[in-house]
Amino acid sequence: MSHGKSRQSRAPVKRTKFRPRMLELDILTLGARGDGLATHEGLSVFVPYTVPGDRVLARLEGRRGDGWLAQPLEILAAGEGRRAPPCPYFGRCGGCALQHLADEPYLRWKERLLEGVTAKLGADAGVLGPIRRVAPGSRRRATFAFARQAKGVSLGFNARSSHDIVDIAQCLLLLPWFSELFPPLRALLTAVCPEGTRGDVSLTGTETGIDMLVEAESRLDLFDRQRLAAFAEDHDLARLSWRRPGAGAIEPLAERRPPMVRFSGFTVGLPPAAFLQPSLEGEAVLTALVADAIGAGSPVADLFAGLGTFSFALAGKGAVRAFEGDAAAVGAAARAAHGTGVRFEKRDLAQTPLRPDELKQFRSVVADPPRAGCGPQAENLASPGGPSRLVMVSCNPATLARDLRLLVDGGYQLQSLTPVDQFPWTAHLEAVAVLER
Ligand SMILES: C[S@@+](CC[C@H](N)C(=O)[O-])C[C@H]1O[C@@H](n2cnc3c(N)ncnc32)[C@H](O)[C@@H]1O
Repeated sequence: MSHGKSRQSRAPVKRTKFRPRMLELDILTLGARGDGLATHEGLSVFVPYTVPGDRVLARLEGRRGDGWLAQPLEILAAGEGRRAPPCPYFGRCGGCALQHLADEPYLRWKERLLEGVTAKLGADAGVLGPIRRVAPGSRRRATFAFARQAKGVSLGFNARSSHDIVDIAQCLLLLPWFSELFPPLRALLTAVCPEGTRGDVSLTGTETGIDMLVEAESRLDLFDRQRLAAFAEDHDLARLSWRRPGAGAIEPLAERRPPMVRFSGFTVGLPPAAFLQPSLEGEAVLTALVADAIGAGSPVADLFAGLGTFSFALAGKGAVRAFEGDAAAVGAAARAAHGTGVRFEKRDLAQTPLRPDELKQFRSVVADPPRAGCGPQAENLASPGGPSRLVMVSCNPATLARDLRLLVDGGYQLQSLTPVDQFPWTAHLEAVAVLER
């Protein structure tokens, strides 16, 4: 006879007490975030900046999920794939995770991130295409953290899992013009920000020059505004804007030329803070993969369309309707699309995803959602009677796997899955999946 909840029905959770200590560990493989993985007393130990085959002396630092996190103190024996990292900030700067791994094993590891996706779907491993590379040194946009201290401004990227800023003179992932701007940018922020200010600076290279946005709480007086306008003049910026995060709106302080970007021959004004693919090279790879997959499958819906990176590439193929949640992006793209047969519509696809009856109008759909994935839009795409071809572009294999699960369960077949290394030396991976039914 049962007397309510049985105490024996739950297995006792074994919690090993944490004691900081040194261990010698053999690194067996790489985890999804690019950390080396060893085992200790039956639990996984994540050891950043190590490679398979390394034997390391490491200090246990605490729990990570069901395992441990350890910091490597000494490489006792180096694994075969280990190489000298090319960047002097590697290991301190939190931007890159894998510069210490040779090219071949690095690329194989990135490809394996998608093998996890096909395995979860039960899809044939043959659908996985070879990885498409985007070279370091090609990024045209980046956001840097800065802190104004008594001695001046630190400007760079956050250290790993920390708010500390690693002050950098250059970054090998970026186009060379970034590092030329760092010294005068430090001097500018030192002049206009009071001690203790922390903020972000976003820089984007456009067709008409650099677009710069500073986000910091400082209140600007007339002299600060003059200094900022003079900086824009001296460095030939296209635009310089400021946003006080508490106050919300972005204030353009100097617009010398409207920042413009080009997609497949169409020129679009870039609203401050609108989404743009990080490099022209990456954008070209993704656009070619999308355009090839869509073929002549018009009419097309471009979901999470941004400024129209893919919509404009598909403009010659027939009717395109583009849906995007950011009003400024829709306004800018719609102006550029006037008379082209591409229609941009503002729509929040999380709140009001395209319904199954709306999706039936389209032969093909491209969807390139934010990191969180397609959300409820994926469920509607999976419902019967929708488009025969889907192209999913994703920067997050975990949410891509979730969306693909829904679509495959809805009757789509995964035709191809191509990794695109848009974010070299990081654990991030872009992918393009083509599905049909
Ligand atoms: C990864 S970007 C892709 C943009 C575009 N496809 C491109 O390649 O440039 C994702 C886009 O989704 C938009 N977005 C985010 N949440 C959204 C939502 N709930 N509804 C509609 N669009 C959204 C963002 O504004 C952004 O433009």
